[in-house]
Amino acid sequence: MSRPKFVAGNWKMYGSLPTNASLLSAVKSGSSSLKAQIAVCVPYPYLAQAQAELAGSNIAWGAQDMSEYDKGAYTGEVSGSMLTDFGCRYVIVGHSERRSYYGDTDAVVASKFAAALKVGLTPILCVGETLAERESDITDKVVIRQLDVVIATSGVESLTKAVVAYEPVWAIGTGKTASPAQAQEVHALIRSHVATANAGVAAGLQILYGGSVKPGNAKELFGQPDIDGGLIGGASLVADDFIGICAAA
Ligand code: PGA
Repeated sequence: MSRPKFVAGNWKMYGSLPTNASLLSAVKSGSSSLKAQIAVCVPYPYLAQAQAELAGSNIAWGAQDMSEYDKGAYTGEVSGSMLTDFGCRYVIVGHSERRSYYGDTDAVVASKFAAALKVGLTPILCVGETLAERESDITDKVVIRQLDVVIATSGVESLTKAVVAYEPVWAIGTGKTASPAQAQEVHALIRSHVATANAGVAAGLQILYGGSVKPGNAKELFGQPDIDGGLIGGASLVADDFIGICAAA
């Protein structure tokens, strides 16, 4: 099955109204003729700006996290329906920065994933091992565990409405990219693991690679058989770099 390539930007906690305006308009014009699916995941306060700038373009937008709850007394939290109010199509769940700094456990991530699906958002589920885990040779175990909690909660068919992003924690924002072969190995593992539950779902599942993707390494990464695009942090803040990565896809 041929899967469309998808590139999603993760702005993290960067941006301001004027810098976003120029970044969004540059990305919009620079990517208008590209074939890849493209999205940007922006900080919550800028969702309205992303919606205003990107409506009618070929670029979708989304958020970087959401609450596992529908509504209620959860000070500081943002629900999935609030995101759909602003036209979001995507939401990142389980990013390693949420897991490590904000205590998002596998169970919380699985609840957020389920809550996203419930309101029609496409969750981008991040999985990946730390350096210590890779060095202890438990990369496979960690990634499968992170995936299995979501499958146990939402069912394997839920992955037809989701995207998985493999992001080795040691490669995020460090300039150390996983080699195309290292990334492909884990992507293939994810796909074959999903295939044991449902081969059709596995064949159609978009699996993105994330971790120091740049225009210079994107083509080789995206050329691997099980890498269907990228989740881009730092380089998504530089219009030319992000457009270059989208062009590579
Ligand atoms: P990076 O971040 O591209 O800056 O390494 C990727 C991510 O955290 O999603």
